[in-house]
Amino acid sequence: MSNERGKWGSSIGFVLAAAGSAIGLGNLWKFPYLAGKNGGGAFVLVYLSLIVILGFSLMLGEMAIGRRGKSDAYGSYNNIKKGWGVIGVLGILACFLIYSYYVVIAGWILKYIGIFVTGGLSGDPVNYFSDFIASGTSPIIYSFVVLVVTAAIVLKGVAGGIEKASKIMMPILFVFMLVIVVRSVTLPNASVGIKYFLKPDFSLITPQVVIAALGQVFFSLSLGMGVMVTYGSYLPSDTKLIKSAFYIPVLDTAIALLAGLAILPAVFSFGLEPTAGPGLIFITLPKVFSAMPFGNIFGIIFFLLVLFAALTSTISLLEVVVSFVVDQFKMDRKKATLLVSVLIGILAIPNSNSFGSMADVKVFFGMNFFDFLGYVTDNLLLPAGGLFLCIFIGFVWNRDEVKKEITNDGEIEFPMFSVWMIGVKYLGIQLLSLILLQAVGVQNTALVYALLTIFVVQILCGRLEGKRGVKTV
Ligand code: PHE
Repeated sequence: MSNERGKWGSSIGFVLAAAGSAIGLGNLWKFPYLAGKNGGGAFVLVYLSLIVILGFSLMLGEMAIGRRGKSDAYGSYNNIKKGWGVIGVLGILACFLIYSYYVVIAGWILKYIGIFVTGGLSGDPVNYFSDFIASGTSPIIYSFVVLVVTAAIVLKGVAGGIEKASKIMMPILFVFMLVIVVRSVTLPNASVGIKYFLKPDFSLITPQVVIAALGQVFFSLSLGMGVMVTYGSYLPSDTKLIKSAFYIPVLDTAIALLAGLAILPAVFSFGLEPTAGPGLIFITLPKVFSAMPFGNIFGIIFFLLVLFAALTSTISLLEVVVSFVVDQFKMDRKKATLLVSVLIGILAIPNSNSFGSMADVKVFFGMNFFDFLGYVTDNLLLPAGGLFLCIFIGFVWNRDEVKKEITNDGEIEFPMFSVWMIGVKYLGIQLLSLILLQAVGVQNTALVYALLTIFVVQILCGRLEGKRGVKTV
């Protein structure tokens, strides 16, 4: 089976596909509104620090697991250490659930391209948006179109489908992004927005901001969900993992920052509020476009770029699940893609209806379907996936083997290996435990005690490893 698995055609193809997974609605829709809501520059600063501290390290770790395990997210963990495949299963489940609501938002993007192509939005953008997302069949159809396009690409396999599509869409995305940024920052009074976005007010940095930023780092980099394991498993053994693990977060962060620069200055320039939340690009931006010369053209360019970003992400969400079905159940790729897409389509319906007929149907814990899935993935599955990833690299996978995999058996220098290991093994585990514990309601003193206990366990496990003769950091 293993020699039938797909392979990337080139390392640039892999970097573009992985960056394509990372760059998505998380950068273009979520990041600007999170920054807008959480104090602008303060949020951006915390976000950047966390990318540097954790983003690079975990990206490298995930890729290494995939390349060594040479299988889907479940199989890769299991091949390295029997029984640990369950970490991968968490990731696969997270991708499955995220895909089922991500596709709904991607469908809205498609609708907005249509709006601008046909002459722009008529009427009040607030009502237009809320009427559309509540309208039942229409948003569901749009999300199905995204599902079909994604499936058509994944069907064609790793090099012929995913890599090819990423090589076309990603460069266009970058160019379109630059067009929009130049337009936005040259508007009258744009500097107010630029300042808001980039100048940190340290008094606004609260624990809540840190938690929101950390969650966003994971979501935006597609970390802790088996994406980079799966994509890494299609890599040949001579790729330089460290280089790729560096480029992908850099590209992802660049696009997030550019998205902020594309949106916030324009919003301020037209005297609108940056705190609109999820409606920022669907409500606030159409107002901006309708007030600007050639606004419809800029609207088309903007929403097309968001669509490309979203598609390269939906491709990766689907691929993680398809790869699992293909590798573990020996199902043919076509059948697996079809099967998973149909299941996602079924789940997309209640997700979409959560903005209409099912808005008040409290499925679990007082939340509607969409909010519940968002809560479970963002607050539980994502940090749990990240935490187990750190535990696996730091305490389960043999340290020398990890080093061998990352350095291509000693061929590549990695003088920072020990620092990297400490980051994953101690800092990563502490930060992710913090998010996870507070998400399940542990607070204040109890939280401090819990983290201290975890720290003691970390030290003890580290010492035990030392006694067993495994060199520790
Ligand atoms: N990283 C993607 C984004 O920023 C979302 C995503 C999450 C994709 C998890 C794959 C897996 O939009």
